[in-house]
Amino acid sequence: MKFTDNTQELKSFLKTERNNGKIIGFVPTMGALHMGHSSLIKKARAQCDIVVCSIFVNPTQFNQAKDLEKYPRTLEADKALIEEFCDYLYSPASVKEVYGEEIVLKEFDFVGLENELEGEFRPGHFQGMANVVSLLFEIVEPNKAYFGLKDYQQFTIVTKLVELMNVEIEIVGCDIIRENNGLARSSRNELLTENGREVSSVISYALNYIKLYHSSFSVTEITDIAKSMIEGILEVEYLEVRDAKTLKEVKDWNNVNGNFVSFAGMIDGVRLIDNIRF
Ligand code: PAJ
Repeated sequence: MKFTDNTQELKSFLKTERNNGKIIGFVPTMGALHMGHSSLIKKARAQCDIVVCSIFVNPTQFNQAKDLEKYPRTLEADKALIEEFCDYLYSPASVKEVYGEEIVLKEFDFVGLENELEGEFRPGHFQGMANVVSLLFEIVEPNKAYFGLKDYQQFTIVTKLVELMNVEIEIVGCDIIRENNGLARSSRNELLTENGREVSSVISYALNYIKLYHSSFSVTEITDIAKSMIEGILEVEYLEVRDAKTLKEVKDWNNVNGNFVSFAGMIDGVRLIDNIRF
């Protein structure tokens, strides 16, 4: 695996690969890598000639300065985890390497996708995320880019982003990787107490319960049951059935295969998200 913190150097490496007809797969991350991230890299490895991973803690997608400061930075461990599967690791030396001298944010028209679910709790988050992803796409010019379905709203917005950018990048959605007890893997799980980590398994239990038993209940009834399983253990921010394309709220089971259940909640001062597709 080649490492670079320099945008021009990465571009020139990739120009050579592209000129040699190589298919380039790209996995953007913010580091503190775990098995969720490495599953994306392995999928890219299986489908592409060249695998590029980026590690960049993007300041424009954080709502709170403290959150950005607190974000774990573990570059050496990250390198060790992925070096077997990745060809180029790009970890820009500064914000300027990505944004240029000054941060000027574009405003993408995501037809409201960015205001649903997480958008309500994290204003500006998805525009910041989309800005960095569009800049990284311009730098890497990948054929395929890999995103985890754990961040389902992000995946939907990035799919819309390539349409708006009018570029030919295939966005590949990758299954959620979970801990043995069902808790979706996340860098934030490290911030949980041992007990918090164990009892948070109730999230995937409740989501699976909805998937299994939805046909015996109305949408409201079953989401209320699932919420009552979780409340008392976590503070529920939302637990809702949504349309997988528009992300809008769903009130009946008329198109159940086109729906997903989305969850966000807090435990031990840590915010966790998860979802399940029907
Ligand atoms: P980050 O949180 O580091 O996640 C990088 C990628 O890993 C995302 O596509 C995310 O969905 C995926 N991922 C994380 N945990 C996962 C799990 N348990 N199973 C499957 N995939 C998982 O998402 C970001 O960074 C940033 O917003 C980024 C896209 C890099 C832009 O800054």
